[in-house]
Amino acid sequence: MRTPIIAGNWKLNKTISEAVALTTELRDLVAGSKGVEIVVAPPFTALDAVSKVVNGSNIRLAAQDVYWEDSGAFTGEVSVPMLKDIGCDYVIIGHSERRQYFAETNQTVNQKVQAALSHNLKPILCVGELLEEREAGHTEKVVESHVTGGIKGLIETELLSCVIAYEPVWAIGTGKTATPDQAQDVHKYIRDLITNTYSKDVASQICIQYGGSVKPENAAELMTQPDVDGALVGGASLNAESFAQIVKHAL
Ligand code: PGA
Repeated sequence: MRTPIIAGNWKLNKTISEAVALTTELRDLVAGSKGVEIVVAPPFTALDAVSKVVNGSNIRLAAQDVYWEDSGAFTGEVSVPMLKDIGCDYVIIGHSERRQYFAETNQTVNQKVQAALSHNLKPILCVGELLEEREAGHTEKVVESHVTGGIKGLIETELLSCVIAYEPVWAIGTGKTATPDQAQDVHKYIRDLITNTYSKDVASQICIQYGGSVKPENAAELMTQPDVDGALVGGASLNAESFAQIVKHAL
């Protein structure tokens, strides 16, 4: 059985004191929740403080991005060993905002995925189509290129350390979530893709979470879909109550 994963992507939000307050409230609300992997992804500046708050709890820490070199003359970048050192277990890679505003490509995404895995940091690989791509009937083609490009060169055990997050770009921050059927169709497509390129066994084990305007009101129905293994939550993760409610829907 796959353990669902509920991850909160805080994006460019929260100072250190705000991050500590949010995490402390969340930690108390989800204390004792079992059978679900709970992850928060604060901005880099708050990782250290949040790491101390979640230490010993059932909340895991993620970063929102990483660079693929371990060290060197790469001004402004943060490496995998640095994230491990601060207490991260996960890193979000290839979020659509990074593809859109920071020129991430399948190739750079793949380099980051490989770098993360080489130090046992688990990638949350984001994939998903733009509205015009969906309307043109290209959803599967785009998702296929994001998935196969992102996981290129991985052996089975490495792939099983990854989480795939299907996030249709038109549903991110728009309040327009995919219907449970739309999400299920693409999640099944991704799982079939993994069956064809790896094996049925690997495909049945890998976690595929949905992201895009997930809220307490729509989380339960999305997560009852057979191939939806949790959620990557943006806006609703900035409030401890609503994020905790989404976690409860995954139980
Ligand atoms: P949203 O963001 O929940 O605010 O739509 C999701 C994401 O970008 O991961």
